[in-house]
Amino acid sequence: MPNTTHNKAAFIKDLLVWFAQSHRPLPWKDTQDAYIIWLSEIILQQTRVEQGLPYFERFRANYPTVKHLADAPEDEVMRMWEGLGYYSRARNLHATAKLIAYELNGEFPDTFENIRALKGVGDYTAAAIASFAYDLPHAVVDGNVYRVLSRYFGIATPIDTTAGKKQFRALADELLHSKDPATYNQAIMDFGATHCKPKQALCKTCLMQKNCAAFAKKKVYDLPVKSKKLKKITRYFHYLVINEGQDVWLKKRGPGDIWQNLYDFGLIEAPATLTTDELQKTEGWSALFKNTNVDIKSISRPFLQTLTHRKIVAVFIEMNIQKSFQPPDASYIKASRNQLDQYAFPRILNDYLNDNTLELFS
Ligand code: ADE
Repeated sequence: MPNTTHNKAAFIKDLLVWFAQSHRPLPWKDTQDAYIIWLSEIILQQTRVEQGLPYFERFRANYPTVKHLADAPEDEVMRMWEGLGYYSRARNLHATAKLIAYELNGEFPDTFENIRALKGVGDYTAAAIASFAYDLPHAVVDGNVYRVLSRYFGIATPIDTTAGKKQFRALADELLHSKDPATYNQAIMDFGATHCKPKQALCKTCLMQKNCAAFAKKKVYDLPVKSKKLKKITRYFHYLVINEGQDVWLKKRGPGDIWQNLYDFGLIEAPATLTTDELQKTEGWSALFKNTNVDIKSISRPFLQTLTHRKIVAVFIEMNIQKSFQPPDASYIKASRNQLDQYAFPRILNDYLNDNTLELFS
């Protein structure tokens, strides 16, 4: 490792100078209310700051205290989360609010270990909350931090290995500016997110450039190193949009798969996208419609959604059904088409509904 003590001192000093000049005025930075900080960090686990801001503002306005959030109906919380994806986080958020409000007497935990023990809170989020709310000396380590440290100190140890994680954690702890851990953590987060960016690093205007190992060796875009790239598996969904008069049949998704408790339509999954002829020969189709006659109106273009480990390709088959549809189980509900905004849908359904309003609502 080519760095020296001098480099570490320069890193901290320059980072704090950069932060003093360039930091973003974000609404959760002016508070030491652990609940508000936790709320912002859970939202930011899921999205970038610009996209997360309106969600944060809405949550804070509607649920100014942990008790407000704890007492909110689950469906309302899910709807407010809609569009952020990864809905288990919204469920954890709600469950944790209830725990704090009713089992911890409304008092947010105030040690790193107790914060870390909350559902949905990992090392990174616990360090962020502990430092921002309570000035505790815990260094944040996430993708931004790996990038900044690997570049500045020229470390090529893969970040997805045990050795790499240990090395970066040790360096991050050493660098933490212990008199003011909150400022140091916020500074490295902001620097990674807005300056030392993955694909468009602002090296030209960077005051860290003079001591940056990656810049000196023209290796900025070779760092950080990952040993293996995640290969995403594709799933092929065929959504059956069953129209019955002014209503459409929705289905509430159950446990054990993505999008638990969100609503979608009747679904046939296959190893590839099928034609409507092929679809009508599947077991899923027979189980759903038995001998009912359906009148297929159209089949949509493929819609795509990328999740952490999966790519979803979905086509939507719109159909009219004359006789009343007999759903095979209680997870199906009949919903009025002009009240669909009362349901929380996965993003791919919203994309479809927004794209096909005329067709579906005619
Ligand atoms: N990403 C995660 N936490 C953040 C924070 N507190 N400020 C900016 N970006 C973040």
